[in-house]
Amino acid sequence: MTALTLYLAAPRGFCAGVDRAIKIVEMALEKWGAPVYVRHEIVHNKFVVDSLRDKGAVFVEELDDCPDDRPVIFSAHGVPKSVPAAAQARQMLFVDATCPLVSKVHIEAERHHENGLQMVMIGHAGHPETVGTMGQLPEGEVLLVETAEDVAGLDVRDPERLAFITQTTLSVDDTADVVDALKARFPAIVGPHKEDICYATTNRQEAVKAIAPLIDALLVIGAPNSSNSQRLVEVGRAKGCAYAQLVQRAADIDWRALEGVRSVGITAGASAPEVLITEVIDAFHARYDVTVEMVETAKERVEFKVPRVLREVG
Ligand code: F3S
Repeated sequence: MTALTLYLAAPRGFCAGVDRAIKIVEMALEKWGAPVYVRHEIVHNKFVVDSLRDKGAVFVEELDDCPDDRPVIFSAHGVPKSVPAAAQARQMLFVDATCPLVSKVHIEAERHHENGLQMVMIGHAGHPETVGTMGQLPEGEVLLVETAEDVAGLDVRDPERLAFITQTTLSVDDTADVVDALKARFPAIVGPHKEDICYATTNRQEAVKAIAPLIDALLVIGAPNSSNSQRLVEVGRAKGCAYAQLVQRAADIDWRALEGVRSVGITAGASAPEVLITEVIDAFHARYDVTVEMVETAKERVEFKVPRVLREVG
């Protein structure tokens, strides 16, 4: 068998917000029985969604698709304010699984709005987190930019009264360019005290940067609609990996493309479970004489509590 080294990036995979969101659905099923409705994929991973569906979760895109008399859970990405308001009006039982680090950005936006500032959000159009964060404020109060080039086209109310926030799962380096462009055009713009990009996104990107010089190819385990997973692929490419690919699981690996490759980096987006990473490693073991090296750039000890309603007995 051909020798091949796998470099496992650490940290990789599940973050505290994803872990909490999955626990919320599992605990809700235990507490209230099936079916429990979930608005949007609880986290962007098919494997996770399918296994929760098997336990009795029903995934829908809109609140209108849920009956009044069953519990509904809002996904980790966050929701516009209109969604819990509509659930309340219908007297539904709902649990918000929005990651606390996304909620923190919502609160930031609200605070700036109360101080009379218009917001610029750096994020991806149409991503549920962006939709949820923009939906915390009235229409027109949050302007969206995706790239540094977009900054020139911004039509703001008052350049002296602006603040910016970001999606939590962006590329740290690309976002820095957008922030520079914002500051160059609007010197008075106010930014977050601490980066909105979350610890998990930052750590996973750092780990990819550390393995990039060691590898011929990078595989990122994650879903195509997972923002942080897509960013890991981009970081790999930006750091010189000629072949950097997103795979949902082992069956997606293009073995022909890996011919001649002797070192492969492996990481996983924040919504990809470890079982899929093990599956990918096993698939390499079946084809190569594999040596596994772990490259750890940070230790993570973040944990978030589930909402009180699920911790209460009865
Ligand atoms: Fe939260 Fe970051 Fe994970 S915002 S859901 S900890 S990727």
